[in-house]
Amino acid sequence: MAQIFPRWTNQIPMLAPPIVGLVLVCVVFSVWYWFSPRHTDVGYAPHQPVPYSHKLHAGQLGMDCRYCHNNVEISAYAGVPPTQTCMNCHANVKKDSKLLKPVRDSWASGDPVPWVRIHKIADYAYFDHSAHLTRGVGCVSCHGRIDQMVVVRQQEPLNMEWCLDCHRNPAPALRPLDKITDMDWVASPEWTKEAQEKASKLQPPVVNCAGCHR
Ligand code: HEC
Ligand code: HEC
Ligand code: HEC
Ligand code: HEC
Ligand code: HEC
Repeated sequence: MAQIFPRWTNQIPMLAPPIVGLVLVCVVFSVWYWFSPRHTDVGYAPHQPVPYSHKLHAGQLGMDCRYCHNNVEISAYAGVPPTQTCMNCHANVKKDSKLLKPVRDSWASGDPVPWVRIHKIADYAYFDHSAHLTRGVGCVSCHGRIDQMVVVRQQEPLNMEWCLDCHRNPAPALRPLDKITDMDWVASPEWTKEAQEKASKLQPPVVNCAGCHR
C-alpha cells in the first residue's frame, strides 16, 4: 500500500506537547501583560457615538467642568451630562450638524446618548469624587489636561499604587477650593506652605485597607 503521509509526520504526536506548551505560555504572558493596569487603561480612548470635544467646549469656549459634570462636588460620581445639557446650546447652535444627529435623536426619543465609559476602577475598590474635590484636589491631578483633549484619554493608571502615592503625600496635589476645575493654575510659594499645613490635618487612607475596600 502506498504511503500517504511522508515519514517525518510520525514525529508530530511527539512534537505537539512542547509546541502547545509554548503557545500556552505566550497566551498567558500576553493576557497578563495587556490586562495589567498600565496597559489596558492608560491611554484608553474609546470611540464615542458623538465626536464631542473637551478641547473645544472646556478649552476654547472656556466652559467650567461643572456645567456638565454638575454633581461632582456632592456625589461619589461625576456623571456624564444628560442630552438636555447639550441641547441648551445645540437647539440653536449648529442645529443641522450631521455630527450632532445622535444628540438630536436622543432628545427626540428620550434614550440617553450611549457614551462609552473610560475611567473605571474595580467594584471591590471605593472612590468618591466629592471627598477629593471638597479637600482641594483638582480634576487635573487625576485626569490630566482634559481641556486639551479632542478625545478623552485616560492619563493615570488608577491602580492602588497610584492612589497610595498621593495619599502618602497629598500636599502637592492641594489647591484653593475655587481652583479645582482650573486647568492652568500653578502653586505660588506662599500657597505651597499653606498646603503643607492643610495636608497635615488630612488623613487619606493608606494602611487602613477598609478605607477603600469596604
Ligand atoms: C459641555 C459639556 C462638558 C463639559 C463642559 C465638560 N465635559 Fe467632561 N464629558 C462630557 C461628555 C458628554 C463626556 C462623555 C463623552 C466623552 O468621554 O468625551 C465627558 C467625559 C468626561 C470624562 C471621561 C468620563 C469617563 O467615561 O471616564 C472626564 C474625566 C471628563 N469628562 C472630565 C471633564 C473635565 C475635567 C472638564 C473640565 C475641564 C470637563 N469634563 C468638561 C461633557 C462635558
Ligand atoms: C454653552 C453652549 C454649548 C453647550 C452646552 C454644548 N455645546 Fe457643543 N458646541 C458649542 C459651540 C459654540 C460649538 C462650535 C460651533 C461652531 O463651530 O461654530 C459646538 C460644537 C459642537 C460639535 C461640533 C459640531 C460641528 O458640526 O462641527 C459637537 C459634536 C458638539 N458641539 C457636541 C456637544 C455635546 C455632545 C454637548 C453636550 C454634552 C455639547 N456640544 C454642549 C456650544 C455648546
Ligand atoms: C483624586 C482623583 C480624581 C479627581 C480629583 C477627579 N477624578 Fe474623576 N475619576 C477618578 C477615578 C478614580 C474615576 C473612576 C471612578 C470609578 O470607577 O468609580 C473617575 C471617573 C470620572 C468620570 C466617569 C465616571 C463617573 O464618576 O461618572 C468622570 C466624568 C470624571 N471622573 C470627571 C471628573 C471631573 C469633572 C473632575 C473635577 C471636577 C474629576 N473627575 C476629579 C479620579 C478623580
Ligand atoms: C487609597 C485606597 C486604597 C487603599 C487604602 C487600599 N487599596 Fe487595595 N486597591 C485600591 C485600588 C484602587 C485597587 C485597584 C482597583 C482596580 O484595579 O481597578 C486596589 C487593588 C487591590 C487588590 C487587587 C490586586 C491589585 O493590586 O490590583 C488587593 C489584593 C488589594 N487592593 C488589597 C489591599 C490591602 C490588603 C490594603 C491594606 C493594606 C489595601 N488594598 C488598601 C485602593 C486601595
Ligand atoms: C492626587 C491625590 C489623590 C489621589 C490620586 C487619590 N486620592 Fe484619595 N484622597 C486624597 C485626599 C487629599 C483625601 C482627603 C483626606 C481627608 O479628608 O482627610 C482623600 C481621601 C480619600 C478617601 C476617604 C474619603 C472619605 O469619605 O473618608 C478615600 C476612600 C479615597 N481617598 C480613595 C481613593 C482612591 C480609591 C484613589 C485611587 C483610585 C484615590 N483616593 C486617589 C487625595 C488623593
